[in-house]
Amino acid sequence: MIITVTLNAAIDKSLSVPNFRLGRRHRSVEQTTLAGGKGVNIARALKTLGQPVIATGLEGGSTGTRIVEQLTAESILNDFVRIGEESRTNTAVHDPTDGGQTEINERGPAVTDQEIELFREKLLYLARGAAVVVMAGSLPHGVAPDLYSDLVRDLHRLDVTTVIDAEGEPLRQAVRAEPHVISPNVLEAEELVGHEFNDDDDRVAAMREMALLGAGEAIMTTPDGCLASMRVDGEGSGSGGPVNARTLFRVEIEPREIVAAVGAGDAFLAGFVAARYAGSGAEDCLRFGVACGAESTQRLGAGLIDPARVERLVAEVEVTRVQAPVEVP
Ligand SMILES: Nc1ncnc2c1ncn2[C@@H]1O[C@H](COP(=O)(O)OP(=O)(O)OP(=O)(O)O)[C@@H](O)[C@H]1O
Ligand SMILES: [Mg+2]
Repeated sequence: MIITVTLNAAIDKSLSVPNFRLGRRHRSVEQTTLAGGKGVNIARALKTLGQPVIATGLEGGSTGTRIVEQLTAESILNDFVRIGEESRTNTAVHDPTDGGQTEINERGPAVTDQEIELFREKLLYLARGAAVVVMAGSLPHGVAPDLYSDLVRDLHRLDVTTVIDAEGEPLRQAVRAEPHVISPNVLEAEELVGHEFNDDDDRVAAMREMALLGAGEAIMTTPDGCLASMRVDGEGSGSGGPVNARTLFRVEIEPREIVAAVGAGDAFLAGFVAARYAGSGAEDCLRFGVACGAESTQRLGAGLIDPARVERLVAEVEVTRVQAPVEVP
């Protein structure tokens, strides 16, 4: 079983509005309303890919009820902790004429210590039957930034694989707890390592910096694929190669015209985790993740992918080894 964690679950409204201008009145030509938040989007894509998944997290108020109803209607198994305050609604406006994208995210509920404690108990209970836990997205107000790092440590005691897609302080602290996988985009990675990337050498160097900070494997997504620092079987300890080694891969796909970019990273991560759960090797997991990310850009609504189209895209993804395995002290 794979568990996804969404502490800031939401109802996500996506509107397609041609010639969107600030300060004007518009009519949308297309709209979708889905349960969202990164973990929920990842659960949706994992379910579509046929992997066993339970979405957990926090939900509250009538919006929270709607999140759970939506998930249940999509046959996505879910087990959320109900909180006192109302879950948020997020709105994304996509302009098909210029590809522009405007997002308005509500502030979201404040969460009490007691609610977090209930959640921790639920997660550790669910995790007993899980191989992988994916924690994705921002933390609600009032939640200490070390929550992900605490949960990573708890989960490692249960021998569960941990995957983190977060940013800022929660990511920085989570990395110290040595999660198995992190998947920042370029901006999030710059923030994590503490400097901007001016060229490819900087990006390549950052992959090692993330490993030194504590990331077991780090994947930095880019609009044309990703860079990934991976542990590869047979290339680490016990195989005569360097102990605790990482192999750096570059994964590329021809960028396509986007319908909606929201959730491309979530689809990427779902694809990567699905392939990993199915037992694929590093290169195939990355290839499949990038194909899922690319496919998701062709649809309005985060976490929506068509598996048949993903399969066709897989053949277009190029994977190269940038470096031989390098020891990480
Ligand atoms: N224009 C594009 N064409 C093809 N694939 C794309 C494009 N943009 C993104 N992708 C795919 O989606 C993946 C994730 O992209 P990106 O780095 O933009 O994610 P992100 O910023 O984390 O998105 P989000 O957090 O909103 O889900 C990339 O690895 C890439 O494979
Ligand atoms: Mg992302």
